[in-house]
Amino acid sequence: MEDRPSYAKASSAVPGTTISTNDLDLIESVTHVASSLDDLDYERIREDVRRTSLARVRGLLDRQAIRECLARVQEGFDRSKDRKHDPRDTEAVRTNFQKLQIGAKSGADTRRTLGRFLRILYNPIFADDIYGLREAFAITARFRNRLYGLPEDFAVEGTDNGFFTCARIHQYPQGGGFMVPHRDIFSRLVTEKSELGYFQIFFLLTEKGSDYTEGGGYVEIDERRVLFEDYTLTGDIVIYDGRTMHGVADVDPLLPLDLDHFSGRSAGFVSLFRHLAADGNSYAKLSREAVERLLPAEGH
Ligand SMILES: [Fe+2]
Repeated sequence: MEDRPSYAKASSAVPGTTISTNDLDLIESVTHVASSLDDLDYERIREDVRRTSLARVRGLLDRQAIRECLARVQEGFDRSKDRKHDPRDTEAVRTNFQKLQIGAKSGADTRRTLGRFLRILYNPIFADDIYGLREAFAITARFRNRLYGLPEDFAVEGTDNGFFTCARIHQYPQGGGFMVPHRDIFSRLVTEKSELGYFQIFFLLTEKGSDYTEGGGYVEIDERRVLFEDYTLTGDIVIYDGRTMHGVADVDPLLPLDLDHFSGRSAGFVSLFRHLAADGNSYAKLSREAVERLLPAEGH
């Protein structure tokens, strides 16, 4: 989708001023353009996310290079690799692993729900680089570290202090891919416990307007749903406040459901995950801990 012309100067250019009610102005006011990690003002990015719950970084990842990776993912896509995944199997996400996920249950031994329909292609940095996304994941993970104030190479290549980068692609298929509005708990638990803040980060593989036309990622600001992907391009990095209500609006819900191709809307994630013991109990413990700590009213 083409950016609409901006009619008003962004009102939130000065920290502390009112957040613009025009979505394009809002996005532009929290956009940082840079071609290297050294060119970014991380404190301003943190401040933008604190103030508006959103920031965009353009130029760190090359749009054309990521488009080529997307084409490679699409060409090599094989639906027969879709698996079901018991989340207690914590080793699966440390390998190249493709799962198709539909359902409401979230975590183990809790009543928390998180209705969603998406495919996840786990592609950790220490597994084979089957999509050509290794560099993009590594740059985004280093950006994440800078934003969190961690050493630049922390958990980028392997496991550090029990953490690893769970590099993966989330694909919301044409014909109804979605995630209901929610606030993050699991990834926040990991980062907040480590006093890393509540910033969540991803980069876009697709563009609304060419890869899909309706739906996509949003955050809710002042009870207004901001579909920020109306204004993002492939390769843009989006940072949001995991405490803010956010989700993925139904992707092209009136088109036929297409699970045979890598269709719809997709994005790359580099969340820090704890490397849990493989016995399944660690995952259940983390689930309970997350709910007790962050959603006490929704305990099990
Ligand atoms: Fe989330």
